[in-house]
Amino acid sequence: MSTSPAERTLVLVKPDALRRGLLGEILGRFERKGLVIEALELRTMDAELADQHYAEHVDKAFYPPLKEFMTSGPLAAVVLSGDEVISVVRTLVGATDGRKAAAGTIRGDLSLSNRENLIHASDSVDSAKRELALWFPKL
Ligand code: TYD
Ligand code: MG
Repeated sequence: MSTSPAERTLVLVKPDALRRGLLGEILGRFERKGLVIEALELRTMDAELADQHYAEHVDKAFYPPLKEFMTSGPLAAVVLSGDEVISVVRTLVGATDGRKAAAGTIRGDLSLSNRENLIHASDSVDSAKRELALWFPKL
């Protein structure tokens, strides 16, 4: 009998979360859910990586301040695995705008911003594949 490997997703715990001392709180929520941390690295995004990571957003009006923010300090790049982890993590993270995200979600409980919203999480199987290759090419 063979079992397929658990799905994986990329999470970035953004610079605002590290500045606010929320890394443990955020990782703890993923751990308590039963997800597995497969890889974890403190990294600082440079301009080139930001443009690649946010390729779908580079032409949008909100991108220049987003890039400024995302390159402003260290973040935690995390690979999580588990059953349906991509959608499970998006549910735990909540809606993009922290002011509108549901209570009980990471953004809903801990962010009051549409930009400094603590977390990036892959939004589909295709984006997880692309983002995991970008951040963890050896994995
Ligand atoms: P998006 O992919 O729409 O959101 P999500 O992170 O929930 O997948 O946008 C990427 C990031 O861009 C978002 O996390 C925060 C930032 N952003 C803004 O700064 N202003 C905006 O109006 C939007 C939609 C996003
Ligand atoms: Mg997105």
